[in-house]
Amino acid sequence: MSPIKLIVKTKSEKYPIIIGRNLISNLSQILKKNSISFKKCLLVFDKNVPNRYVTQISRSLKRFEVYKFIYNANEKNKNQKNVNKILNLLLQKNFSRDDSLISIGGGITGDVASFAASLFKRGLKFVNIPTTLLSQVDSSVGGKTGINTSQGKNLIGSFYQPKIVISDVDVLKSLPFREVVCGYAEIVKHALIANKKFYNFLDKNIDDVLKLKSPTIEKSIYESCKVKKSIVEKDEKEKNLRKILNFGHTFAHAYEASLNFSKKLNHGEAVILGMKSAFEFSKNKKLITHKEFDSAIKHLNNYHFPVSIKNYFTIKKINQIISFMIRDKKNNSKNIKLMLIKKIGGPIIEKEISDVTAKLFLKKKLIN
Ligand SMILES: NC(=O)c1ccc[n+]([C@@H]2O[C@H](COP(=O)([O-])OP(=O)(O)OC[C@H]3O[C@@H](n4cnc5c(N)ncnc54)[C@H](O)[C@@H]3O)[C@@H](O)[C@H]2O)c1
Repeated sequence: MSPIKLIVKTKSEKYPIIIGRNLISNLSQILKKNSISFKKCLLVFDKNVPNRYVTQISRSLKRFEVYKFIYNANEKNKNQKNVNKILNLLLQKNFSRDDSLISIGGGITGDVASFAASLFKRGLKFVNIPTTLLSQVDSSVGGKTGINTSQGKNLIGSFYQPKIVISDVDVLKSLPFREVVCGYAEIVKHALIANKKFYNFLDKNIDDVLKLKSPTIEKSIYESCKVKKSIVEKDEKEKNLRKILNFGHTFAHAYEASLNFSKKLNHGEAVILGMKSAFEFSKNKKLITHKEFDSAIKHLNNYHFPVSIKNYFTIKKINQIISFMIRDKKNNSKNIKLMLIKKIGGPIIEKEISDVTAKLFLKKKLIN
């Protein structure tokens, strides 16, 4: 199967996403074919990315002057200190704006590296090689960069688009299965909010997607990127439409935060529980038909996924969950804004609810 190409066109940049197999060892040719040139490049790579991939990439780039920055990617290290280290290295090696920074890693590495690229001399060429399923289907599309602070996640950042995204599905083979589930949560979210046909495809092929089987995995990455692309093209700077990407995430963030971001429930698992909660809320409010609700819940009840919030919380935790929901960035009052689905594939609507309504909903879920 030859690589698939998807073009993202925002106001600030037009760039391709290339999806396929055996891409990283042909990196140099891919860059040339897409008219991306530079003399020097800095590879910012996640230390958990297996060495063999880094070697393949370095070999392919041997006609360039290549420098490396090894990054220990985790939420704690997604900070200004590491951005400064990258910037200092670029300064020491006398990089110009026409040179390039190449990220090789998941969403954390991509967010930090692209933030540094956006700052260096007000913008250095940025190439993204996402190596997790989540980064291939979500964080590499749309140009949001960012770091965490002691006040919260992703509070400092910029919008900065890459020159190219190269998603090689072969590099996903070394991913732990829970990370595959994380990526799948965003894939199915994209289908649920915008593409019923794609949802039906996933419903039929979920086992193959989770096993990363070709060509199912390439198609899933492509369709998922297509949904996100169409949203960010219309709303690059997250003014309005981009909010629909938060489907399930208000509940998910609150669940994760209430568990202090423990490994017990990772982000993707929280998103799956969050989407289930959002569907249940829609059903309670008679916003969705029983048939569509049953189909979505059956899909999200796959035996690889977390079963219920009851396995993580007791009634005592409700107030804490609600306080995190109120603090969600979509809210500007004490009310909670939820993104809810009326039909699989859209439309999706924003509904403002009171903390009392949210409390009653969670109480019912935790008791039954
Ligand atoms: N910019 C955006 O639009 C956007 C969107 C969604 C999420 N994000 C951000 O993305 C981050 C999450 O991204 P993620 O899920 O990719 O997490 P991640 O970058 O932490 O990667 C997940 C884990 O997989 C490891 N890993 C990466 N590639 C690997 C490989 N090929 N083989 C084996 N292990 C590998 C990492 O070291 C890490 O332990 C969060 O910080 C989130 O805020 C950004």
